[in-house]
Amino acid sequence: MKRVAVLTSGGDSPGMNAAIRAVVKTAYFYQIEVFGVLRGYEGLIQGTFEPLNLERVHNIIHRGGTILKSARSERFKTEEGRKQAYEHLLKHNIDAVIAVGGDGTYTGAKVFCEEFPEIAWIGLPGTIDNDLYGTDFTIGYDTAINTAMEAIDRIRDTADALNRLFIVEVMGRDAGFIALRSGIASGAEAVLIPESKADLPRLLRRLEQRAKNPEHAFIVVVAEGDEIGSSLALKQKLQYKYPRWDIRVVVLGHLQRGGAPTCADRVLASELGFAAVEALRKGIKNVAIGKVHKEIHYTPFEQAIKHHNDINPNLLRLLEILA
Ligand code: F6P
Repeated sequence: MKRVAVLTSGGDSPGMNAAIRAVVKTAYFYQIEVFGVLRGYEGLIQGTFEPLNLERVHNIIHRGGTILKSARSERFKTEEGRKQAYEHLLKHNIDAVIAVGGDGTYTGAKVFCEEFPEIAWIGLPGTIDNDLYGTDFTIGYDTAINTAMEAIDRIRDTADALNRLFIVEVMGRDAGFIALRSGIASGAEAVLIPESKADLPRLLRRLEQRAKNPEHAFIVVVAEGDEIGSSLALKQKLQYKYPRWDIRVVVLGHLQRGGAPTCADRVLASELGFAAVEALRKGIKNVAIGKVHKEIHYTPFEQAIKHHNDINPNLLRLLEILA
């Protein structure tokens, strides 16, 4: 293992920089050269590689976003795009790629490994959604839930002052992890997530109770991927049923993806970046690396993309009782 490339791909997440830093520093320790690929899989196709040294990763552990930039690449989904990527990797004498990203990143990695097995590949879980199989937590999730929780706390202050009902939409394309944890932590009166079918009837029951005494703030946290539809559609439904209530919608959106990573995300990213280089040195390849029950865990890409991280049923029960 002489030369490794590192890239960040898909939606960025706080802690990606900490992971890049850990890869570069660990590689330096073992005298392995590192190249950074700019803009994820797009950069592999275009050949935008830059040598990464200790100086380049100095002073980045606390920064959100990614110094390598990111992209959602359509071209990497094509055989031609992947062939171009392979040629650039060969030209730069790269033995292995460490890709930090989510589901789409792992899918691209799996296909590439099957087509070009001579290049080793490691995936690191970088997404705020926490929906990846093979790790308890993804890099960026802790920061995102803390950002969402703080935002909901602020919304609650004003909701309480004016007895308003707020629908707060949080990120999570197909997953309710952000909604569930930030909802529990902020004492939301209801949480709607794609993984739970019982949410809407439960919300309607709660609203019946509120109708008897509307003198309270009421916060509904909704995952953007919830099947009930967008938060605006939900507002319309509720407003129709309760025309006299003051109902407002806040979409937290991309502010959940930015900002300085929390301590937990920095440490997780550092551990996984280190583990990626260690794994390559041991000859482990074509796996996603995560942490399960405090231990480093390797999951073949095939498995990682087939499965989905599960919502903890205990948290759903907790929410049912505490909300
Ligand atoms: O990266 C995950 C995520 O933040 C999802 O929660 C969200 O649905 C999606 O990315 C948004 O992606 P984009 O910024 O490309 O619209």
